[in-house]
Amino acid sequence: MSRCLICQTEMTPFMSFGQMPIANGFLTPDAFEQEYFFDLQVGFCHHCSMVQLTELVEPEKLFHDHYAYFSSMSVQMAQHFAQFAQMVRERYLSVTDPLVVEIGSNDGILLRHFAKAGIRHIGVEPSANVAEAGRAHGVNAIVRFFDEETAEELYNSHGPADVLLGANVICHLPNIHSVMRGVQMLLKDEGVFIFEEPYLGDIVQKNAYDQIYDEHVFYFSLHSLQNLFRQYEMEIIDAMPQPVHGGSMRYVVARQGMWPIQPNVSEHLARETALGLMHASTYEQFKQRVYRSREELHALLSELRRNGKRVVGYGATSKSTTVTNFCGIGPELVEYISDTTTGKHGKYSPGVHIPVVPYEHFCQDDNDYALLFAWNHGDEIIAKEQVFQKQGGRFIVYVPSVDVLDCVEV
Ligand code: SAH
Ligand code: TYD
Repeated sequence: MSRCLICQTEMTPFMSFGQMPIANGFLTPDAFEQEYFFDLQVGFCHHCSMVQLTELVEPEKLFHDHYAYFSSMSVQMAQHFAQFAQMVRERYLSVTDPLVVEIGSNDGILLRHFAKAGIRHIGVEPSANVAEAGRAHGVNAIVRFFDEETAEELYNSHGPADVLLGANVICHLPNIHSVMRGVQMLLKDEGVFIFEEPYLGDIVQKNAYDQIYDEHVFYFSLHSLQNLFRQYEMEIIDAMPQPVHGGSMRYVVARQGMWPIQPNVSEHLARETALGLMHASTYEQFKQRVYRSREELHALLSELRRNGKRVVGYGATSKSTTVTNFCGIGPELVEYISDTTTGKHGKYSPGVHIPVVPYEHFCQDDNDYALLFAWNHGDEIIAKEQVFQKQGGRFIVYVPSVDVLDCVEV
């Protein structure tokens, strides 16, 4: 039994994924023995509808000076964030000398567009190595966790913010109430808080259970966020679905009554009701589908290996840690994982210890199948991997269901 991080109601987890290592904890063999594991469990709060982890890993274990995730590894994401910046500038930055603050600016994939335009900005980024990469793009980043105290210091040193931004980070923050007090303090009265995160509706509909891992403390819906923002006299004024990360939602939040609420907010709320996102039975059904998916994936990989096929992984994602550990997929089933991030090369995947190799290996090798761990970048990857497919290679996916994809020619 644990308590909801939003409203303190007692909560029992609806599912455990078993003992999990740190999702982004790619490691060398000398660290195998001390590898940290925790019970990855997820719960649904009957009172405020927030889906969340029920056992948390300390943020300092996840975000540090050797954080593995660099946002700019995907061309598609770089384009996405360029458009995001454009939208913010057009709709919400009409005042003179505005201040933009981003929570979790990583390597500056979003803020670099404000930096280039000479707009006052600050990135709050606790992982020193990625913050440093952002500075190389002219991004003014401070190495800090965003919370009430950081917000107060920023307010005192730079004044109130016109826009607060976040992408794939607000759902990472277990100290959400301190973060919200910070947002309330830092934001101008007419300011907006815009953030986007993997969307619970997509996770449930696509059976994307691999979004569940240590960094993702919360799985947001409009309903659950409304319950959070109400506590701070704020409200969702706009909600825009995004195709990235397998289905995300961008939320625009303002102080109550300061901005008109767009009609699509009530449309999304109605869709969530129809999807059953506020009912425990939805998550029971989700759990059953996840177990089925595990059986199917394990059976498919085992059969391919029995038939002497070479299967490798594509993309050493954080998400892959949940899949490999939960489904029991180790190097005996997946020979290696190819990834373009230099910091992951020569390391092993968390828990099951599949070697992570440079992308060049994948290009040179004669593989039969590639298990697409980076399925959220599927369009970009499948379009790029024409040679692999023309030579008979096939992609295996498990979202929304376990499948071997036909050759896609572009
Ligand atoms: N916004 C980027 C990065 C997402 S990864 C993108 O969408 O690609 C999440 C980032 O949030 C990491 O860089 C991590 O270091 C950072 N982060 C984690 N906790 C944080 C906190 N309390 N305050 C600010 N950033 C945080
Ligand atoms: P991503 O799916 O964005 O993240 P998460 O870690 O949140 O699950 O990570 C994509 C990973 O896949 C990243 O390590 C880079 C790698 N990658 C490739 O190796 N090749 C590619 O073409 C792309 C788009 C990503």
